Amino acid sequence: MNVDVTAGAVAVVGGGVIGLSVAWRLAESGYRVVLVDPAPRSGGSWVAGGMLAPVTESWPGEEEVLALGSASLARWPDFAERLRAAGGDPGLRTEGTLAVALDSADAETLAVLADHLRELGREVERLSGRQLRALEPGLGSRVRSGLHVPGDLAVDTRETLRALHAAAAGAGVEFVTVAARSVGPNVVELADESTVECAVVVITAGAWSGGLHPGLAGLVRPVKGEILRLRARPGALPVPTRTIRAHVESRPVYLVPRESGELVLGATQHEVGFDTEVTAASVLDLLRDAQQVLPGIGEYALTETAAGLRAGSPDNLPIIGVLEPGVLVATGHHRNGLLLAPVTAEAVLSILRAEELPAAVRAADPSRLRGVPALPSPAGGPR
Ligand code: GLY
Repeated sequence: MNVDVTAGAVAVVGGGVIGLSVAWRLAESGYRVVLVDPAPRSGGSWVAGGMLAPVTESWPGEEEVLALGSASLARWPDFAERLRAAGGDPGLRTEGTLAVALDSADAETLAVLADHLRELGREVERLSGRQLRALEPGLGSRVRSGLHVPGDLAVDTRETLRALHAAAAGAGVEFVTVAARSVGPNVVELADESTVECAVVVITAGAWSGGLHPGLAGLVRPVKGEILRLRARPGALPVPTRTIRAHVESRPVYLVPRESGELVLGATQHEVGFDTEVTAASVLDLLRDAQQVLPGIGEYALTETAAGLRAGSPDNLPIIGVLEPGVLVATGHHRNGLLLAPVTAEAVLSILRAEELPAAVRAADPSRLRGVPALPSPAGGPR
């Protein structure tokens, strides 16, 4: 595809972290950009924890996800710097991540991850419970072992989204706050029966992408994540310095500290269609597991419960590339939307300019999914 900046507008459909990053990057590069979303910077991105964690998210068999995540993480410091100058501070935290285990089965899970990373030439440091508590004194006495991963970072999700929205507006992106109903070459059909005519469409609608274009039907599915926000009250133990990830009786949980004293505690993972209600059982599970890791949170204020929808793909890699002439896609980022925003925005720009893509991005091309059996579509439609 070679889309000259004079060819007409680029319509970006979906205003989460991926859509806003794409829109900003294209507008900065001279394209006229129209972003279509009834409520930009809401949805799954608004709820997300903000971990930039390709290593602690990795697992044997998902080497391409790790390669793409690492390529994007390497771009984050520059992305954050440019965002600070253009829209606001995304709150990039560089203190790193601890992955900890409470029982022997949890420790075995971490040992599998450490061995896998060593085979890939990535060293992670194994630490005892005592060594972990020396780094993070708030860790509970049941934490028995873990890994220190200094390169897995975090951002403040909501500050990032505010900054991206401001940067995109500042670069000239026009916002159309109406839901998209469907997408075809050179056109976006809107829920109010109007249309956006354009030179090219980029689908960045996360979990809702599957309902917008037949080429994505059944390939992108909503994966519900419930997440809590807490705040250290006066007299309570301060929030940890690093992101803490844990397996508690095989259930994953993470705690992401914010500069402000907020602690983001996530997240469940349920395949229940477009349901975004938080259940009492999920809140119980998250709090009980997190309190075993960081007992002091019992004294914290519980300030928010929320649920968001990740955009799952069949192989956990995103779907980035050309669906048909005039229609690009950048969706299916599943657990890694914040992490993958910089590399995705660069990739979309490169595709429009007919530039060669790095191998890690080529692995995410939609053509790999041809012939993958489509899932039945879950209840709920495009927003
Ligand atoms: N990135 C963590 C999650 O999706 O819960």
